Amino acid sequence: MQKEDFFTYQAQTSPHPLGMEVSRAKGSYIYDQEGHAHLDFVAGVSACGLGHCHPRVVEAIKTQVDRYMHVMVYGEYVQQPAVEFAKLLASQLPKKLETTYLVNSGTEAIEGALKLARRHTGRSQIVAANRSYHGNTTGSLSLMGFEERKSAFRPLMPDVRFINFNSEGDLEKVTEKTAAVVLETIQGGAGFILPQNDYLQKVRKRCDDVGALLILDEIQPGFGRTGKLFAFQHFNCVPDILVIGKGMASGLPVGAFVASKDMMANLKDHPKFGHITTFGGNPVIAAASLATLRELTETELIPQTLEKEKLFRKLLVHPLIKEIRGKGLMLAPIMESKEVADYLVLEAAKKGLILFWLLFETKAVRISPPLTISMKEIEEGCDIIIALLNSYKPNAVN
Ligand SMILES: Cc1ncc(COP(=O)(O)O)c(C=O)c1O
Repeated sequence: MQKEDFFTYQAQTSPHPLGMEVSRAKGSYIYDQEGHAHLDFVAGVSACGLGHCHPRVVEAIKTQVDRYMHVMVYGEYVQQPAVEFAKLLASQLPKKLETTYLVNSGTEAIEGALKLARRHTGRSQIVAANRSYHGNTTGSLSLMGFEERKSAFRPLMPDVRFINFNSEGDLEKVTEKTAAVVLETIQGGAGFILPQNDYLQKVRKRCDDVGALLILDEIQPGFGRTGKLFAFQHFNCVPDILVIGKGMASGLPVGAFVASKDMMANLKDHPKFGHITTFGGNPVIAAASLATLRELTETELIPQTLEKEKLFRKLLVHPLIKEIRGKGLMLAPIMESKEVADYLVLEAAKKGLILFWLLFETKAVRISPPLTISMKEIEEGCDIIIALLNSYKPNAVN
């Protein structure tokens, strides 16, 4: 009944949505209307880092809802949850990343970062990577290095050049005309591709040489997923603008861009209100973000992701798995073929295990569970994966 209404009254984005009818979610599980538990290896596409309905986050949200929910557009009033979140975040970041602008989604944070970079440098050109994903509003879409998904929406933002991620040679395309280079610290949709051979340090140097800014998109790997609070902390390279979102508020809609106080001051004049948004910094979402960041910084969850990665790598050994890309709990087993990947995602759903695809790498299967997942739950899910691969027969997907 509800499913019919879903198809009638709500817009869809694919011809065959998975369509699970959700009743509730807790920890590593989502429960459907029939009461079946589904082990969640996707965590709302990396958004639920603390699992579903983490008690500390729920408590913070409820407390804030009782105090006030929305009082004024971003940046005018002093609201304790947002101030405390920004202060705690600054304490975890290098000095030059001390000022946070809170927005409503990852893609809006990218838009804000682009505007800030153009305003700060007085240049317009943006350099982005092939097979990158930074969101779906027009500016972010213009940076998407995947023609098939953007050609229908042209004309997009002009003055964007593309480089290959990890190609040192391509860095000559970054010049005195470039306002900013925008990269995912770990490429997500492309197949969880890590920077190799000090690539990010080389990008950093090239940006410094030509006076361009470096914007790192940590929307997916951020908030502990790769074994550090932010993935750039593995690679000895500090961006000028850090863009974050997804796991930041444990499942509530959010994004932010972070830069130096001086740079961020550009948004205050010429023009005044250089970026404005009604709900950015919303106190309920900021309270959830603060509780999330406290939990991540006061517990061992972040280092434990590396132990959990080891267990996944130990258990997911099978002739149909060609390699496992990624780091921490951002893992992408690469299957022998797209057919195997499709089979695994669709059949696992029937066995109560939630997996998903990546945007561009069709042989990959997404494994991005909550950081709170237990070793036992990892074993349970990997057993399902291996059993399914053992019974795979070509042309099995229907
Ligand atoms: C690397 C990256 N950047 C940006 C975005 C866009 O974030 P949002 O969907 O919150 O707009 C995503 C979302 O998947 C992402 O993975």
